[in-house]
This record gives sequence, C-alpha cells and structure tokens, in this order.
Amino acid sequence: MTGPAAARPARSRTAPALSIEGLTVGYGGIPAVRDLHAQVGPGEILALLGPNGAGKTTTLLASVGALPILSGTITALGEPVDRRVERNARRGVTLVPDSRGVFHRLPVEDNLRLARRKNSPALDDVLDYFPKLRPLRGRRCGTLSGGEQQMLALAKALLCAPKVLLIDELSLGLSPLAVEELLPRLREIADDQHMAVVLVEQHIGLALSIADSAVVLHHGRAALTGSAAELRERRDRVEAAYFGNLGNAAEGPAEN
Ligand SMILES: Nc1ncnc2c1ncn2[C@@H]1O[C@H](COP(=O)(O)OP(=O)(O)OP(=O)(O)O)[C@@H](O)[C@H]1O
Ligand SMILES: [Mg+2]
Repeated sequence: MTGPAAARPARSRTAPALSIEGLTVGYGGIPAVRDLHAQVGPGEILALLGPNGAGKTTTLLASVGALPILSGTITALGEPVDRRVERNARRGVTLVPDSRGVFHRLPVEDNLRLARRKNSPALDDVLDYFPKLRPLRGRRCGTLSGGEQQMLALAKALLCAPKVLLIDELSLGLSPLAVEELLPRLREIADDQHMAVVLVEQHIGLALSIADSAVVLHHGRAALTGSAAELRERRDRVEAAYFGNLGNAAEGPAEN
C-alpha cells in the first residue's frame, strides 16, 4: 500500500491490458487529474475510488481517448490510446458511462440489437450473465428498474467484445441490494472473459470486495494505492485518503 508521495503501485503479474503512466489530464488546459499511475491486467479489476470531483470520470474519459492528455501516456492492449475514440472502442476499449448509455424509448431487445457488431459474442451467452433480462426483452427500457437498466448497460457493453472495460458508477441510484447482486456478476465476467476492468464506484466496501487493486483519488491525485486485500484491512486509511486526511505520516506498509 502506498501513500501520496510513495513509490509507484505494484505492477500486475501479467502484462497490463491498460497502463496509465504519469497521466495529467483536464479541461481547457487546467489539470483535473495529475501524475496518475495505474495498471490493470487481463482478468483483473481495479477500483477507482474517491469523492465527488476527484477526477474519476476524467480518468475514464481519457482512457478511451475522449480527452486530450496534457502529459503522460495511456497504453491499452499494447498500443497507445489516441483520440480516435471509435477505433479504441473497436480495439476493445469500452466505456460504460454513468448515464448508462441505454435508449429509454426502445425495447430491451432493440437496445441489445443496436449494440451488436461483427465480433460480438452470442447474445444468448451474454444473457446467461443476466437471466433477469430474458423475460424483459420486449419491455421498453424506460420502464426497467435502475438495476435492470444497469444489467442492460453491462450486457450492451459485453456485446462490444471488450478487453478493457471502464465502468463509471455502475451502482448510481441503485439500492444496496441491487449493487450486491450486480458487482459479484462483474467479478464473474472479468474472470470468465479475462477482461480488464476499471470500476468507478462509491460503494467502497463492495468495490474492494470484488477488486484486485484500488486507487483512491483526491483532488486529482492518487492519495492511496494498494491491493484490494490490503485496503480491505485498512479501511481507516482508505477513508482518510478519501477525505484528503492521509498525510505523509500515515505512509508505510499496513500493520496487520
Ligand atoms: N467538462 C468539464 N469542464 C471543466 N471542468 C470539468 C469538466 N468535467 C469535469 N470537470 C472538473 O474536473 C474535476 C474532476 O471531475 P470528474 O468528473 O472527473 O470527477 P469525479 O471523480 O468523476 O466526480 P463524481 O464522483 O462527482 O462523478 C472536477 O473539479 C470537475 O468540476
Ligand atoms: Mg464522475
């Protein structure tokens, strides 16, 4: 586990599917994220945590090429991520935005059909992860519950055959029970599909329970980085980092 001024996060054992090195990115030339380092390997989940305005969405947007980088590099699947968002998506770098990206006026079936591509996995295989969606295929998306809409958003993302999946606040507006159902499903998918996942999540405990590693952002900087197992043991440090109270005095390995 590392604090604000400590060494780089531990590297994945496998070659990273997504590697963020010294990323500084923002809006109108003003950084919202500064000197961020993070990596996630195939089949791994990185939880990106932090309070409102910490820079989580900005990091995801930069990772799909949607924002101009001020400095640093992002490499996905062995190639630098450039500003060609469509091309990055075709290479397997897929964003599930916090708006869920579903068409509310269309039935579930049409939403799924619109997401299909030449290299999509079979729809049946995708729906195996979300059996609750099967009987809802004829329903207009706007009439689905929040949890069902999130399942649809994930199913649509899986139809893009992602190798790096970036998910912004999957649980936004969901009940704790719905989140408890959804996040373990994500773990299963990452394992089955060897998919690298970056998960932005406000439910810290649940996120750490399914993640392999985590970064806590505060004011655009990595305030704390470590394995999910370490951070689960040191929730005090996670919360201090979250609120910007993790000073240099708090650095050093976990004492457990
Ligand atoms: N389009 C924009 N133009 C200017 N500043 C922006 C823009 N989008 C975000 N910001 C600023 O960048 C900083 C980081 O925002 P970001 O959306 O990445 O935070 P976040 O961690 O995703 O927060 P939240 O939990 O509220 O979604 C904030 O100070 C925000 O005001
Ligand atoms: Mg956000």
